[in-house]
Amino acid sequence: MEITTVAVIGSGIMGHGISQVVATAGVQVFLNDINDDVLAKARRQIEASLDKGIQKGKLTEAQKGEILKRITCTADLQAAVKEADLVIEAAPENLELKTAIFKKLEAFCRPDTIFASNTSQYSITEIAAAVKDPTRVIGMHWFNPPVAMKLIEIIRGLETSAATLETIREFSARVGKETVVCKDSQGFISTRVLVAMRLECYRLLEEGIATAEDIDKTLRLAFGHPMGQFELADFSGLDIEIPACESLTKVFGDRFRAPQALVHRVKAGKLGRKSGEGWYKYES
Ligand SMILES: NC(=O)c1ccc[n+]([C@@H]2O[C@H](COP(=O)([O-])OP(=O)(O)OC[C@H]3O[C@@H](n4cnc5c(N)ncnc54)[C@H](O)[C@@H]3O)[C@@H](O)[C@H]2O)c1
Repeated sequence: MEITTVAVIGSGIMGHGISQVVATAGVQVFLNDINDDVLAKARRQIEASLDKGIQKGKLTEAQKGEILKRITCTADLQAAVKEADLVIEAAPENLELKTAIFKKLEAFCRPDTIFASNTSQYSITEIAAAVKDPTRVIGMHWFNPPVAMKLIEIIRGLETSAATLETIREFSARVGKETVVCKDSQGFISTRVLVAMRLECYRLLEEGIATAEDIDKTLRLAFGHPMGQFELADFSGLDIEIPACESLTKVFGDRFRAPQALVHRVKAGKLGRKSGEGWYKYES
């Protein structure tokens, strides 16, 4: 199937960036969120990101106008998805919320529309079980920020069809991304490796072995990572780590249990850049 219209559900950190990438590749996008204020913010973020592209000489004002014209923001889910060939769900990391959204998608979409979830850790097979035809459900795991990161990790659920997989592989290439494919397993490739590394950094801090600054510096200068794990956690949001740790712990045991230092920060509302403070403090 050729994808010409995409609906993105959730216009937060990931959803607005995914919409920009897809619209830049010439595809129509319907961006959905819970209300118009959130969508207006997402649109401003996309505009600001495109302006940066203009400053860097990567696109023109006219191209920016064309890209923005291809993005329709709507808080009406049915209107957003009814013409979609592909729906990319980027709502908060909450399994009940995601399965409820997928059930609605089934009611509102064509029978051949592909449903992709950007979940970082939930089972695609479990999300797919919420709909009657699980062969059209797949994991399409983008990385933050979607505009800059080259990879999409494709997760094949137990019943995802070969045709669905092929369509998503082709579509990912069309929007300029590289892909890897993995079987549905808790944390896939990327989240499992990332959480293991990050928790070891948190343990080093908790044990008083080194400061967050020095652990981050080690990752950057010794291993060539563009950011340390504390910096990256602040960038992505500390709150999304807790459910990731809980789910990995259920499957792989205590090595993935969230440390108190993380749990307490999240309870105190220190969620990273988006709240002004996480492991580090930020100017508002
Ligand atoms: N932040 C990251 O670095 C990152 C990276 C890869 C994958 N992910 C995954 O992407 C998904 C989204 O994460 P995010 O960081 O963009 O979250 P976010 O909190 O920034 O954005 C989520 C958006 O979804 C909206 N939303 C809530 N309920 C909704 C509903 N019923 N219908 C439509 N929209 C709804 C919220 O208003 C919000 O704007 C999660 O599954 C997350 O695990 C996040």
